[in-house]
This record gives sequence, C-alpha cells and structure tokens, in this order.
Amino acid sequence: MRLEAPPLDTLGFSEGAVLTEWFEAWFDEDYALLYSHRDEEEARVAVGRALRVAPELQEGPVLDLACGAGRHLEILRRANPLAFGLDLSRTLLGMAPGGLRPWLLRGDMRRLPVKAGVLSGICLWFTPFGYFSDEENRALLLDLGGLLRHQGVLVMDYVNVELLARTLIPEDTVEHSGIRVRSLRSIEGDRLVKRMELTRLATGEAREVLESVRLYPPRELQEMAVRAGLRLRRVMGTYAGASFTEDSPRWIGVFEKAW
Ligand SMILES: C[S@@+](CC[C@H](N)C(=O)[O-])C[C@H]1O[C@@H](n2cnc3c(N)ncnc32)[C@H](O)[C@@H]1O
Repeated sequence: MRLEAPPLDTLGFSEGAVLTEWFEAWFDEDYALLYSHRDEEEARVAVGRALRVAPELQEGPVLDLACGAGRHLEILRRANPLAFGLDLSRTLLGMAPGGLRPWLLRGDMRRLPVKAGVLSGICLWFTPFGYFSDEENRALLLDLGGLLRHQGVLVMDYVNVELLARTLIPEDTVEHSGIRVRSLRSIEGDRLVKRMELTRLATGEAREVLESVRLYPPRELQEMAVRAGLRLRRVMGTYAGASFTEDSPRWIGVFEKAW
C-alpha cells in the first residue's frame, strides 16, 4: 500500500474555515516547543515495547492516529513499511521527517478515510482520545473497532485518570524555550480543562490556549472498547511496559479485535 503524494489537505477541509475547537488551534509550533521533551527516544521505547506486546503491528496497514510530527510513526515504519499516520495539524505534519511525507494524511479522526476491517493495528500515542463530546468519543472508538481486521490491535496510550485527579496542580507558571506559560488546571465535570497563557519573552506577545480532555476511568474505557468488539490484552503503566499501578504515569491499554 502506498499513499499518493501530496496527501495533505485532501480530506474534506475548506480553506479559510474558522477555527473553533481547541484541538484545531493548539497543536502548532508552540505546542511542539513546549512538548519537545516528548521526543524520539520516548517514542522508541514505547513503540519497541508495543511491538513486543502486539506483534500484529509489524504486518499490514497500521494507522498511527493523531501522529503529530510522526515520532512514533518513523520508528514503527522501520518494522512495518505499511504503517501510515493521520493528523489534523498542518503544522505538526509539516515538522515530520521528509521521508515520512508519503505516509502522512491530514484529516479529522472523526472521519477516517479507511475501509472497515482492513487495519492490522491502530495506535493512539500520548492521549489523543477524549477530545470531543462523550457521544463523539464513543462513536470514534466504535469506528476504530470497525476499521480493524479480526485480531487486529488497538494501542490506547491514555492518562492515568485517578493519578491525574489526585496530583493536579491547579496553577503554575514555567518558562520554557523562550515562552512563559501560566497554566490553570481544573476538573470540570468529567473533563480535565487546562487554560494556558503563553507569553513570548522576547516580544511580550501573548496568546491563550485551551486543552479539554474527557477523563474516562479505565473501567469505562474498557466497556466502550468491548462495545467496539475489542478485548483487553494487556495494560501497561509506562512506555517501557511496567505493570499498571495506581501511581503509574500512563494507562496504556493494548486491545485486540475479538470478532
Ligand atoms: C497530544 S498530541 C500527540 C501527538 C503524537 N501522537 C505524539 O505523541 O507526539 C495530540 C495530537 O492529536 C491531533 N489531533 C487533535 N485533534 C485531532 C482530530 N480531530 N483529528 C486528528 N488528529 C487530531 C493533534 O494535531 C496532535 O498532533
């Protein structure tokens, strides 16, 4: 399988459309700078472990969903030349290594241009789940289940919701890469809401950005996954594959398509 270049901008976007949703506005150069510690080395460890727990990722079409600048995809493609990525952010896709370009699609994960039952695997690295309304999140997981072939795998790298709630820092200010970031964090209903004011130290230029992620406890995620035809194979608490505990930084569920 080869995606025809140029694949970016092809998936039903109207140029000049007004940006309304937080996830359309935030994943840009500032995000890339402030999250630069989420790097290739972390991705190498995560993909290496995922390949051992889910060897299905080595064969057939595998989608790195919300792949960002492709840090996981680049490593996965060394094991699987049919792996490809999709992301909404033109900026992050533009930062991906040039060799990945034929394997990148720009699009919205709620409208995936993939036929049912064809994927060997889907990976959602670093929490790209929970961005939409509860109804849309559930519909997305159902769709993802439908795209997998029998015994295909889904890797869901999500936050440890309970730890996050227990250790939430309501407010802080840090300086990073020439940007001062004042963050206000709160749990509003069942969502983690993070409001950030970013100020460029060199110019004083400021902007506000938002993150709003629906927090699903593991049990709820698993119930949703079962409805999507997915069976939990393994839960890990770190990218290196440690068992999940209440203090684990991540909740990484590896599911397989049961029917
Ligand atoms: C926290 S980042 C993770 C990126 C990447 N997986 C990584 O680990 O570096 C979340 C990603 O989700 C993408 N995203 C947000 N909303 C999306 C949507 N509706 N459809 C596709 N991608 C989306 C963002 O552009 C961003 O790249």
